[in-house]
Amino acid sequence: MPERPTFAVVPGAQVHEVLSGRERELVDLVADTYRLHGAGDTVNPPSYFLRFPDRPESRIIALPASVGGAVAVDGIKWISSFPRNIDSGLPRASAVLVLNDPATGYPLACLESSIISAVRTAASAALAADRLSAEGRRPRRVGFVGTGLIARYIHTYLLGSGWDFDEVGVHDLDAEHAEGFRSYLETTGSAGRVKVHGGCEDLVRASDLVVFATVAGTPHVSEPAWFEHAPLVLHVSLRDLSPEVVLAAQNVVDDVEHCLKANTSVHLAEQRTGGRDFLDGTLAEVMDGRVRLDAERPVVFSPFGLGVLDLAVGKYVHDELARGGELRVVEDFFYELDRYGKR
Ligand SMILES: NC(=O)c1ccc[n+]([C@@H]2O[C@H](COP(=O)([O-])OP(=O)(O)OC[C@H]3O[C@@H](n4cnc5c(N)ncnc54)[C@H](O)[C@@H]3O)[C@@H](O)[C@H]2O)c1
Repeated sequence: MPERPTFAVVPGAQVHEVLSGRERELVDLVADTYRLHGAGDTVNPPSYFLRFPDRPESRIIALPASVGGAVAVDGIKWISSFPRNIDSGLPRASAVLVLNDPATGYPLACLESSIISAVRTAASAALAADRLSAEGRRPRRVGFVGTGLIARYIHTYLLGSGWDFDEVGVHDLDAEHAEGFRSYLETTGSAGRVKVHGGCEDLVRASDLVVFATVAGTPHVSEPAWFEHAPLVLHVSLRDLSPEVVLAAQNVVDDVEHCLKANTSVHLAEQRTGGRDFLDGTLAEVMDGRVRLDAERPVVFSPFGLGVLDLAVGKYVHDELARGGELRVVEDFFYELDRYGKR
């Protein structure tokens, strides 16, 4: 007889407790998951974007996926982006993640997933910063364009995985957001000198590691000359750079098919050139030495954000809680478990 399936609900407080302070471990987990994905041991179909004619700025995205190897889990992330939330102080994004047992298909758990999503995004950015920065030329000046939750998590993951900086640049279209992030950085104590830049050009020219984490829907940075000092750019928000900037750089993505969709900057570059020759490879290919980068030219990393990363981090949280006997199982969640009815 197989074990009777159970279903747990994992609130954000438990997710936070499991994940906080484990930056290095999570960067390694994300690296292993990229390797599994690169080796074809995952399934990661295209995300489905639910949009609303009466609320065009908002969306909910479904990311179904399956991870093999030691992770061994199926599932789906369901994440909404409602940019107007931030007017009332509520975060823009909210999410749940459902994990399914690959043996029975039964859902195992539903996890609060805005933290998991931010963690996997930040761990992927910190991993890319490490693997894509030229040997012996580790950036000392980081700059953040867009200063929301994702910028904060990326900063935490950079510091937590061993980076330190002489200078941290900050730029946001909204001066209050820039100021909020500046005062947050000062509370971290280890941030280096913090400088708020009134313009994006200033920040880019002053940084050798540039993080774009805005909510720009169309490119607002179109001058390749801003990047002539060959910075590493983590283009997490995906739509800030014009095709000219993309085409003047070396380009690394997490997954080619995913990234060249939904009017990302690399998708616009493909439309402009009619081909994909401007792509140098994936992060997994750089990690295993199949792709080498030129330290004299800018590098742009565009991570579409893979559902397999959410599943790997979600399964990690689930397993840690199960090991500690802390899973909050919902009694009788599955009621009809006998094929011919209860006797
Ligand atoms: N690639 C991935 O895997 C992945 C994962 C999660 C989030 N994201 C993306 O990261 C981005 C940031 O997410 P968040 O939750 O921090 O958002 P947020 O709304 O909390 O913060 C975004 C900030 O960007 C600022 N901004 C908007 N346009 C700007 C511009 N042109 N120049 C400078 N600042 C600008 C806003 O004022 C705001 O402070 C979003 O685009 C989100 O879709 C990507």
